[in-house]
Amino acid sequence: MRINKFLSLGLILIVALAATVACSDNSIDTRVTPLEEPAMSFPVDVTNERVSAGENIYARNCSSCHGPVNGRPTLPGAPAHGDAGHTWHHPDRLLFQWILDRPPLATTMPAFRGTLSEEEVAQVLAYIKSSWLPEIQDRQNEGSVQYEAQVVEFGSE
Ligand code: HEC
Repeated sequence: MRINKFLSLGLILIVALAATVACSDNSIDTRVTPLEEPAMSFPVDVTNERVSAGENIYARNCSSCHGPVNGRPTLPGAPAHGDAGHTWHHPDRLLFQWILDRPPLATTMPAFRGTLSEEEVAQVLAYIKSSWLPEIQDRQNEGSVQYEAQVVEFGSE
């Protein structure tokens, strides 16, 4: 009886110790690599490779609602991405997140997480960015850089 009690006390101690070790391991992991943080640097680089890959991705996944990248949307209510639209008013980090996980309060826009990889989202974004007038590209790029400075200071949430 006494030995049994002793044994179970020992067992509880071992379990508690294992749990402590497991927990401290976990918290170290989450701090080093936050799960939600995309492995992407912003503003996204607009390279020729990304733009041409993005053109195909756009044609297959986006133009059915948004229309041609610099034209009128096909679906009423879908925003135009071109110079006349509002897409360029937003920094790359937000556009990237919205394409992956839907814009806030979206009713129609699907999430592409699971359909497109993060690199493919960067490619379609590079394609959209490449369609803007050079001065609009410059302004949007400036906004993206400023937004990143805020993210460094205050975090992305
Ligand atoms: C089923 C139609 C549909 C498809 C497909 C679709 N969108 Fe959208 N998208 C919308 C609508 C509608 C909105 C406005 C928010 C809402 O009500 O859902 C939107 C919003 C957005 C926005 C934020 C608004 C802005 O300022 O531009 C971005 C960025 C965007 N879409 C990009 C894309 C990209 C890139 C793809 C393809 C990978 C895509 N969308 C595919 C319908 C669609």
